[in-house]
This record gives sequence, structure tokens and C-alpha cells, in this order.
Amino acid sequence: MKTNTILTGDRPTGKLHIGHYLGSLKNRVKLQNEGKYNMFIMIADMQALTDNARNPEKIRNSLIQVALDYLSVGIDPAKTNILVQSQIPALNELTMYYLDLVNVSRLERNPTVKSEIKQKGFGQSIPAGFLTYPVSQAADITAFKADTVPVGDDQEPMLEQTREIVRTFNNTYNAEVLVEPEGVFPPKGQGRLPGTDGNAKMSKSLGNGIYLSDPADVVTKKIMSMYTDPDHVHVEDPGKIEGNTVFTYLDAFAEDKAKVAELKEQYQAGGLGDVKVKRYLNDVMQGLLEPIRARRAEYEKDIPGVYQILKDGSDKANEIANQTLAEVRAAIGVDYFKDLK
Ligand code: TRP
Repeated sequence: MKTNTILTGDRPTGKLHIGHYLGSLKNRVKLQNEGKYNMFIMIADMQALTDNARNPEKIRNSLIQVALDYLSVGIDPAKTNILVQSQIPALNELTMYYLDLVNVSRLERNPTVKSEIKQKGFGQSIPAGFLTYPVSQAADITAFKADTVPVGDDQEPMLEQTREIVRTFNNTYNAEVLVEPEGVFPPKGQGRLPGTDGNAKMSKSLGNGIYLSDPADVVTKKIMSMYTDPDHVHVEDPGKIEGNTVFTYLDAFAEDKAKVAELKEQYQAGGLGDVKVKRYLNDVMQGLLEPIRARRAEYEKDIPGVYQILKDGSDKANEIANQTLAEVRAAIGVDYFKDLK
């Protein structure tokens, strides 16, 4: 029997890139194929709307792209329940009950939300839904009684908030209804993948990403113009590995570690040109992305079929979330009509 339940998810605000692959998707496929977990992956469209309420088209379009990204990397709907947050009404009711157990100043202290507020430039006009999204995320996690939540480092405050809500709820209502989740974070030092321009963050707004859905020639073009060592001007010059994005990517993606070590040595000694290293990186990346692209092309032929996968996943998710909600209502005592015939 599968005793552990994993829940994780993404905001659909754009297509997923190789940083997402490295940081989470790859691991999700591995966990899925271990077969030990009940797996739920949520496309968190309501959370995406908390700062995109006036641009719902973006979220709508991204939803299907993210679904295609999942399927193309090998998330298998027969093994993993892919669900859409907005299609699970129980999450909203759970959120309302949880909001009463959290105070505003606690929400205002959440470091991830704080830095997002700054970065998004809300000023004094923070959407209330945005400030409270960690509570809605607690509903996401607890609705499925997930005990294991693999996420990026920036999600640590959400897990902490969720654990607090679980404890407060179970204490307040003297019930053992909600489950305290553990976050599972990327190993230290294996942080995020830099953009192709060397910027610490890969993002759409910086235009420095390689997307899982990029055609082969686009990937090649992006790799051939990547940031390397700016002081490595002539082939015979010794080059630097540190902060050299091409080598960072090779470390992250190349399976032949001996070959990478050899290239590094040559590069540092001098006599190895950037173009050669980039060509090798291109081979590595195309090898990774080609099967992903092929699978995507198959799914793209049947978009209604992809929506059907999301609906089936959401239907199953509703059964579970409704069950948890019933327990939550009973614990609070708002199950007034339960004995009526
Ligand atoms: N906040 C997460 C992110 O930005 C997305 C998310 C929403 C999530 N609900 C979740 C992650 C529940 C894990 C569990 O990446």
C-alpha cells in the first residue's frame, strides 16, 4: 500500500524551462516512477490569478502549456493525479476556515510574499488574495493530507505556515483531522540554474531561458550565444570555469562527468575554444530535449484529450478534498444537517 502522499504544484504563468526541469520536474518523474507515493500535481491557477486577475487569458493559455510540459517530461496520468486548483471548490471553503486561524501580521511577515510584493511593485495596493495565498496553499496541501511536499527553497515559509495552521486547527477543534506536511527541498548548493546570459535567475522577463517547448534550432541559437568567461578572448587563453554558464549547464545536465572534467581542464589550461564547449553542450541539451519535444508533439495533436486528463485528475481530487472538507466541517461543528433524513 502507498502510505505517503506527495502534493506539489506550479503557478501557470508561462511555459516551463530547463531550470524547472532540473529543479523539480525531473525529481517528480523519479518519485512517480518509484511507485511508493500517492502523487498529486496541482496547476495552481487560482494562485496565479492572485496577481493576474486582470489578465486571465495569460493564465488560461499557460494552463495548457504547463499541462503539456508535465506530460512531455514523463508525468504519467496513470500514475500521477494532475489537477487544476480552480476546479476543486473544497479548497476555497478550507481556505475560509483557515483564514480565521491566522492573523494579518503573521501573513505580512512571510519573507517570500514580502519580496514578491516588492518585486511586483504593488505599493499600497496589495491584492488581499495575494497576501493570503499562503493560507490557500495550506488548503491545497491539507486537502489531500499530503505529508511530503517537494518544492523550491522559496516555498519554505509556505510549508511553515501550513504546519502552523495544521497544529492550530487540530488543537483548536480538538481533532486529528489535518496532517502536518514535511517540505522536501533541493540539496544545498544545487540551487537554481542561471539564465543563458549568466544572470542568477532564468525568467521570461529577462529573455534568458531555454524552454522545454523550444524547437531544436532555437535551443542551438540560445546555446551558441550563451555567456561564458568574458576574459577568454583567444582560444589559447586560459579560461575560467567559475561563473561560466556553459560549464554550469554541463555540470547540471551532462551525464559523462569524466568528459566534462576533461573539458574543464583543457579550458583552464588554454587551447579550448568556447564554440567547441558550446557545441558539446548543444549535443547534451538536444539529447535531453528531443524525446521531450517528441512526446509533446504527440499530446499537441489532441488538446481536448489533455483537458480530459486534467478533468479526470480534478474529478478524483474532488472526491478526496470533499472528504477532508467533511471532516473539517465536523470538527468545527458546522455539520448542522447531518442527522436530517
Ligand atoms: N507556490 C508554489 C510556487 O509558486 C505553487 C503552489 C501552489 C504549490 N500550491 C501549492 C506548491 C501546493 C506546493 C504545494 O511554486
